[in-house]
Amino acid sequence: MVNFPQNLQKRLSKRHTENAFRKLDSKLGLVDFSSNDYLGFSREGAISKMALEIMVSEKINQNGATGSRLLSGNHGLYATLEAYLSEYYNAGAALVFNSGYDANLGFFSTVPQKEDIILYDEFCHASIRDGIQLSHAKGYKFRHNSMDDLARKLDSLLMKPRNADSEIYVSTESIFSMDGDSPNLNELTSFCEKHNLHLVVDEAHALGVFGKGILNALGLEKKVFARIITFGKGLGVHGAAVLGSTYLKDFLVNFCRSFVYTTGLPPHTLATILGAYHFLESQGGEQLMGRLKDNITYFKSVVVEMGLSTYFIGNHSAIQSCIVEGNEKVKLLSHSLEDKGFDVRPILSPTVPKGAERLRFCLHAFNTQAEILGALEVVKKNFG
Ligand SMILES: Cc1ncc(COP(=O)(O)O)c(C=O)c1O
Repeated sequence: MVNFPQNLQKRLSKRHTENAFRKLDSKLGLVDFSSNDYLGFSREGAISKMALEIMVSEKINQNGATGSRLLSGNHGLYATLEAYLSEYYNAGAALVFNSGYDANLGFFSTVPQKEDIILYDEFCHASIRDGIQLSHAKGYKFRHNSMDDLARKLDSLLMKPRNADSEIYVSTESIFSMDGDSPNLNELTSFCEKHNLHLVVDEAHALGVFGKGILNALGLEKKVFARIITFGKGLGVHGAAVLGSTYLKDFLVNFCRSFVYTTGLPPHTLATILGAYHFLESQGGEQLMGRLKDNITYFKSVVVEMGLSTYFIGNHSAIQSCIVEGNEKVKLLSHSLEDKGFDVRPILSPTVPKGAERLRFCLHAFNTQAEILGALEVVKKNFG
C-alpha cells in the first residue's frame, strides 16, 4: 500500500480536532437554503428547452470543445455569447472563462505587473486572493468595505517611492459571498476616478439577484476597469466572464494562463448560458426576480419580528448570514435545522475568521414564506 505522508496526515487530524473537517455529501429532500441557484434557473425547463433549440438551430453536433480556445476549442457559440454579453452589459468586450475561479485567478495573476499594487477588500473571495498570491504585483488588504482604511492605505503607499510606470488596482465585490453586503460603489468609483486607480468588481452574487448586477443598476459600469460575472450562481449554469475594454480582452487572450492552458467549455454549456440570459430578460425571469426580492424582504421582516437582528449581518441581498460563534455550535444549529428538513450550511473557520462562524442562509425565488418562517423558528429556539 502507498504511504500517505505524515505531514499531510497531521494536517487532516488538526482539521478533526478543530471541528473543521470537510467532507463531500449531498443532502436530498431538504428545503434549499444553501445553493447559489437564487432564481431556480438550474432546474428551469424553459432554459434547457432554449439551449436545445440553439444547438439545433446552429446545427451543433459536438459534445466537447476539443481544445484550448486558442487552438481548436473556440467554437462558434463563443463569439455569439461574447457579443451578447458586451452589448447586454454595456461593456467594451467580454471574455468567457471556464469558471469564476479561473477568471479571478487568471485576471489577478496576469494583469497587475511586477511594480504594480493591488489594494483588496479583506473579505474578497479566495479566487481573488489566490490570483493576487500568484501575481508579481504587491497586494495589500484594506478593512472590509472601509473607504477610510482604503484611503489610509493608499496615502501610505503614495508616500513611498514608486516606479513611474506603477499602476494601482482596487479589488472588491458588489455582493460579498460570506456577508452578503456591499461596498458603497458610488463612493468607491469616484475615489478610484479621482486617484487614477483601476477598479475591479466581482459581481458573482449580484447577477440575477439585482438584474444585470449592481454596477449596471447604478449606471456605474463605465467607471470600472473590469467586472467579473459568473454563470454558476444566479444563472444556474457554469462558467464566467471578464468584462472590460478590448485591450483588456486582447491582453488576457495573450497572457492569461488560466484562459490559455485549458480546454474550452462545451457548446452545450454556452447554449445554456445564452438560454439563461434570454429567460432572465423574459417575463418569467422578471417574475422570479420579483419573488426573490419579496422573499428577501419577508426574511428580513421575520428576523426583526423574532428579535434576531443582532445575530444577522444586515444587507439587502439573497445571502443572509447569522453569526454563531464556534465551529461546534454552528454545526449543531445546522444539524437542528436539518432535522426539521432545512438545508442551511454552517460556514466554519478557517473559511471565515474564528469568532465569525455563521449559518449562511441563501434565499431563493422558490422558497415559500412557510419555509422561511419554519427555518427561522429553529434559529430563534437556539437563541432562546
Ligand atoms: C465572489 C465570488 N467570485 C468568484 C467565485 C467563483 O465562481 P465559480 O463558482 O464560477 O468558480 C465565487 C464562488 O463561490 C464567488 O463567491
